[in-house]
Amino acid sequence: MPIVYHEEDSNISILQDKIVGILGYGSLGRPVALNLQDSGVKLQVGVHNLDRQAVALADGLPPLPIEQVVKNTDILLMLLPDEVMPQVYIEKISPYLHKAHTLIFASGYNIAFGFIEPPPFVDVGLIAPRTFGDAVRERYLSGEGFYSCVAAGQDASGHLWDTILALAKAIGSLRAGAVEVTIEQETELDLFMQQAILPAVHHVLTTAANLLLARGYPPEAAMMDLYISGELNDYLSRAAIHGLLHALQSSSLTAQFGTLSRLERFNESKMARLMEVTLDEIRNETFARDWAREYTGGYPRLQKLVRQQEKLDLWELEKQTIELLRGEED
Ligand SMILES: NC(=O)c1ccc[n+]([C@@H]2O[C@H](COP(=O)([O-])OP(=O)(O)OC[C@H]3O[C@@H](n4cnc5c(N)ncnc54)[C@H](OP(=O)(O)O)[C@@H]3O)[C@@H](O)[C@H]2O)c1
Repeated sequence: MPIVYHEEDSNISILQDKIVGILGYGSLGRPVALNLQDSGVKLQVGVHNLDRQAVALADGLPPLPIEQVVKNTDILLMLLPDEVMPQVYIEKISPYLHKAHTLIFASGYNIAFGFIEPPPFVDVGLIAPRTFGDAVRERYLSGEGFYSCVAAGQDASGHLWDTILALAKAIGSLRAGAVEVTIEQETELDLFMQQAILPAVHHVLTTAANLLLARGYPPEAAMMDLYISGELNDYLSRAAIHGLLHALQSSSLTAQFGTLSRLERFNESKMARLMEVTLDEIRNETFARDWAREYTGGYPRLQKLVRQQEKLDLWELEKQTIELLRGEED
């Protein structure tokens, strides 16, 4: 049975004498830094790009070169893009690591696939938020918190869990809860969501939109009904709190009959097989090798795939619908 940690499981005061280094000030780095700053944690931020340096400075966090932050701090939060991180680690982080360092990752990717192999004398842990960076900040400020996966890689000091839980509390995750997993499990689950669930959802919604448009439904009405109204989010939010079956049973009897009587129709054995193949490719490192090649080559396939998607007529209709419904501010 996995362990779930909450605020009472953590002692934030152990961070009092420590300086935390934030390496990377992007989608997750900035929200995490702001949350830690508001929790009273002493920080230094390593930022390489001039625009982001200005943002960090405006946030009251004077940016420093990454090497400097590694030298000055005790705990390093590794908040660089996963595909970029191994090179930055070799050039700017590993030469300056010492015995008292703790490396905390927000994704197990580089450790699980062996792209980064920290020396045995440092602690290695994981706090991987299960939401977007923006929500990490918003839910800290609202007091709601956010779920995360936490894992211990190597515990050289014997105090790794104290550090992980203190940081998870200071970031705001333990107000919701953190689930203990292994670094490999976190990595595989995260990639599985990205590679099996999101493509299926994308495919279902675009297929449905194209069908409805081909059958002459007004584009704005069709796009709104499918996902722009937020009804689907509300359904999933209810499922997240009370369960998938409860969400279904909270719907009208017409909806329940319609869903359950047609469920079997979508019970494609091919889909289960595709999910299995996708998971196998993640676990046997086929995807990690593909992605490393893609990064080294300058993302040629990713760029081509994005261009193909951008050409779909649907996005113009989606844009018009959003503008029509939400007005100019979005
Ligand atoms: N974003 C999320 O919602 C989220 C959620 C859970 C976990 N994570 C994990 O958090 C980590 C960070 O992801 P992210 O989404 O925050 O990445 P990101 O938005 O792309 O930002 C990464 C930061 O690293 C900097 N950077 C890029 N290349 C660099 C280089 N060569 N040298 C030094 N700095 C460099 C970026 O600067 P510039 O781009 O400005 O140059 C930026 O400040 C990843 O491990 C990811 O898996 C992210």
